[in-house]
Amino acid sequence: MNSKIARLARKNVQELTPYQSARRIGGTGDVWLNANEAPDSGHYSLDCSRLNRYPEFQPESVINGYAEYAGVKPTQVITTRGADEAIELLIRTFCEPGIDSILINPPTYGMYEISAETCGVATMKQALDVNFDPDYDAIKAQLDTVNIVFLCAPNNPTGNLIDTAKLTDLLSAAKDKAIIVCDEAYIEFCPDASQVSLLQDFDNLVILRTLSKAFALASIRCGFALASNTVIGLLSKVIAPYPVPEPVAQIASQALTEKGIAVMQSRVTQLNGMRNAFVDELNQLQGIEKVFPATGNYVLVQFNNSQKVFSLLGEQGIVLRDFSAKARLENCIRITLGNAAEMNSTLVALKSVLS
Ligand SMILES: Cc1ncc(COP(=O)(O)O)c(C=O)c1O
Repeated sequence: MNSKIARLARKNVQELTPYQSARRIGGTGDVWLNANEAPDSGHYSLDCSRLNRYPEFQPESVINGYAEYAGVKPTQVITTRGADEAIELLIRTFCEPGIDSILINPPTYGMYEISAETCGVATMKQALDVNFDPDYDAIKAQLDTVNIVFLCAPNNPTGNLIDTAKLTDLLSAAKDKAIIVCDEAYIEFCPDASQVSLLQDFDNLVILRTLSKAFALASIRCGFALASNTVIGLLSKVIAPYPVPEPVAQIASQALTEKGIAVMQSRVTQLNGMRNAFVDELNQLQGIEKVFPATGNYVLVQFNNSQKVFSLLGEQGIVLRDFSAKARLENCIRITLGNAAEMNSTLVALKSVLS
């Protein structure tokens, strides 16, 4: 890289370590259980007759479809290029670079901090408590100094959920002070845990959603923020002029029909069944310290020796996500739920490594 050109970049970009997504880390094998993707891909039709035209700013069929599915009004929905874009959009909308801060609760999803860093916004950290739940009192004590609090439930990677009474109390304390974001990327795997009904009472709540996980559409990059009309209006000012490509809108609107939602729900039933059976098997194995609560399409497992597990399964073409270098996640590996054959191979491999 030309170092003079590199010096032209903003200082925080020069210093940035980009998010290590599963695709960037790569790997070799044929059992891909490292990105919390769905194991199957659906069938969609595409009408290419309007590809010469710019797409709608916020495609009505997608907004209406998602609003109906989520039980909110269309004016409470904005669609983005994956939930990842919504994270960055929130930071760009609500945080002044070099002045404001966000608050995250590690260990949690890595993109909150990286998006803040790219925007020149500081990240405050309030560690999850001993049970890996948010420390609500400690968060409340910092509401005067942060603009956005990012909560994630099911938390990636620990699987913890949010206590609705404690969240309600936090939203009240944060009224007119801070935006509270609940990232519900995996909520279809435990729909009763959604906090969406609190949108009726709190205009500082934002819920993040995605089609990447239970809807099995990670490749189309389609996510959503659900919030009050005021917040959606502000995000709409900042978002790119044509954020949703026409083919994405067509596929997303098919996924959000009654039939598409039924397909998603049957995938969830199947994956949740496999996940529970997999966890039962894990609990009987030697060499495992802890199986974290499995509420999404993944299970975080603490082994006695994760390095051995990770490399021996890797040699067999089973690609997992290693979290062992993260604080408080020593010896932890996250395993995405694949199809029945993939889970069976993984279990057989684990049994042989741990025996
Ligand atoms: C907790 C969480 N939030 C958001 C995202 C980003 O989702 P998307 O694919 O919609 O950008 C992910 C992706 O893995 C995630 O785990």
